[in-house]
Amino acid sequence: MDDLFGLNGKVAVVTGASRGLGQAIALGYAKYGAKLVVSDVLDVSETVKKIEEIGGEAVGLMVDVSSRERVKGMFLAAEERFGGVDVLVNNAGILRSAPAESLWDEDWDKVLQVNLKSQFIAAQEVFPFLKKRGGGRIINIASIAGLLAFNQSIPYNSSKGGVVMLTKSLALEWAQHNILVNAICPGIFLTGMTNDMLGQESFRDMVKSKVPMARHAVPEELVGAAIYLASKAGSYTNGQALVVDGGWTCHL
Ligand SMILES: NC(=O)c1ccc[n+]([C@@H]2O[C@H](COP(=O)([O-])OP(=O)(O)OC[C@H]3O[C@@H](n4cnc5c(N)ncnc54)[C@H](O)[C@@H]3O)[C@@H](O)[C@H]2O)c1
Repeated sequence: MDDLFGLNGKVAVVTGASRGLGQAIALGYAKYGAKLVVSDVLDVSETVKKIEEIGGEAVGLMVDVSSRERVKGMFLAAEERFGGVDVLVNNAGILRSAPAESLWDEDWDKVLQVNLKSQFIAAQEVFPFLKKRGGGRIINIASIAGLLAFNQSIPYNSSKGGVVMLTKSLALEWAQHNILVNAICPGIFLTGMTNDMLGQESFRDMVKSKVPMARHAVPEELVGAAIYLASKAGSYTNGQALVVDGGWTCHL
């Protein structure tokens, strides 16, 4: 099998791609030959520029993944500009941390909306586009918090646990359409989401003590997993939650 990890001729849509893991995955896909639609509620022009600097092609869109209409528009834009969609990376996500008794309904609703419902909406909306191409890949960014609970992060943990089960459920239904659906469960990566936490010595020490590799990761270290799941290399991987955590979840 040659070109096992190549993405030449593929069109990928990555949400939450203005920075962090989404930006790293989009750039990695571009390096491996994919054309990109990158979206975010924030400005994505820096990601588009970085992709173009390495000779890739990208369309940047302002899309709140909570809006079904905007999400559908993202796939229509991919079709209009690049002729279709082959890969969706549901990456956009938010974190709210607070003790259970002090969380508001709004915290629960917002986190579950952005992290879980939006991934389902995007999967439903990309379905006809992937079918038109004879199949495709959906990669949902979950978290190790979808497998084991982080302290004082109930909506986040619940949303990510939901993402793992959403992934397995879709994988079951859509394999018949040659659409493979997998999740990635990152451990701690240095991004906008974790920057403040990793700025605290106590948090860094906790990561050091829990992770056998004794360090957190940088976004580029998630890219290989995302390429694997989008490429020929992942042709028989379906419904999995691929953990990329330096070994944290190997032990109690
Ligand atoms: N960084 C980590 O350690 C870590 C660990 C496990 C899982 N994750 C997950 O990885 C994904 C990416 O997170 P990150 O660490 O890069 O964080 P980040 O905050 O740097 O990036 C998240 C991006 O999602 C965007 N976003 C938020 N709400 C949105 C919405 N409604 N519509 C569209 N875009 C929206 C943000 O603007 C941001 O650009 C998230 O799903 C997160 O839960 C991160």
